[in-house]
Amino acid sequence: MHFDHAGIATDDADALADLYAAAFDVPVAHEETFDGMQVTFLDLGNGYFELLDPLPDSEGTIATYLERNGPGIHHLALATPDVEAAMAAAVDAGVDPIDDEPRPGAWGHEVVFLHPKSTGGVLLELVEH
Ligand code: CO
Repeated sequence: MHFDHAGIATDDADALADLYAAAFDVPVAHEETFDGMQVTFLDLGNGYFELLDPLPDSEGTIATYLERNGPGIHHLALATPDVEAAMAAAVDAGVDPIDDEPRPGAWGHEVVFLHPKSTGGVLLELVEH
């Protein structure tokens, strides 16, 4: 298990990607439209920022999050070679998954989200590349 990315909710992924590129020299590694969002991964060298920007009129979880909280860190993700086994181990340890089973995420990854009430207040994502 190792750190993979911080998911950042934003209402302007292009502007934030440009700012981070100029300020921190972090290039765009991948960009796609996924689940009603523009998703932009910035390459930090040993992990990523995942910019999550709802498309206009999106009513998904990130749009709701932005309405309630404004822009900022939405979740942290840990990479594992076997997301199913990692999920089972987490459940054995008392963690509550939000998803019943791993599902397709952005960039073709398999992901599962874990409930922040069971992880010390942090929305965690397990991701298998
Ligand atoms: Co993520």
